[in-house]
Amino acid sequence: MQTRKKITYSEAETLKYAAQLAAQIKSKKIILLSGSLGAGKTTFIRGFLSGLGSKDKVKSPTYTIAREYNSPKGKILHLDLYRLNSYEDVVSLGWPEMTKNYFITFVEWPERLDGNLPEKCVEIKIETINKNSRSFCWQSNFSTGLHKK
Ligand SMILES: Nc1ncnc2c1ncn2[C@@H]1O[C@H](COP(=O)(O)OP(=O)(O)O)[C@@H](O)[C@H]1O
Ligand SMILES: [Mg+2]
Repeated sequence: MQTRKKITYSEAETLKYAAQLAAQIKSKKIILLSGSLGAGKTTFIRGFLSGLGSKDKVKSPTYTIAREYNSPKGKILHLDLYRLNSYEDVVSLGWPEMTKNYFITFVEWPERLDGNLPEKCVEIKIETINKNSRSFCWQSNFSTGLHKK
């Protein structure tokens, strides 16, 4: 188990933080992002994509549950499960097999997985401290090789 915490003080700093992490990624990952609406889940993904060298636009997929992006390291899957009701709904999307085709899978609203977490995943819990400050708590059940000083 690895845990890490980071506080950012602006959207720009979150974009930079996520991009720096992305630049260190060497192997496939499933990254679960939790936090209330406006916490910064999508912003984090946007920074991460730019750090991977992707030119694709990351949008908040309110009505689109699954989005796909390209990056020099491989395809990226962005799931926003907000509108789903249960784990059964997630499975009918093709979860978890669908994640095998992607270098990185991001999951917003992983609560909808009803605790059926992938064997290896990174969980990031984002909390809103105030208007421009957010805390990012990382937890992974394996050694990610990230956050090395
Ligand atoms: N430190 C910060 N990190 C990320 N976003 C921030 C920060 N401070 C303010 N914000 C704002 O919070 C909002 C985050 O939106 P978004 O990433 O779409 O959230 P979510 O996907 O969690 O609903 C944006 O409007 C962004 O400008
Ligand atoms: Mg979002």
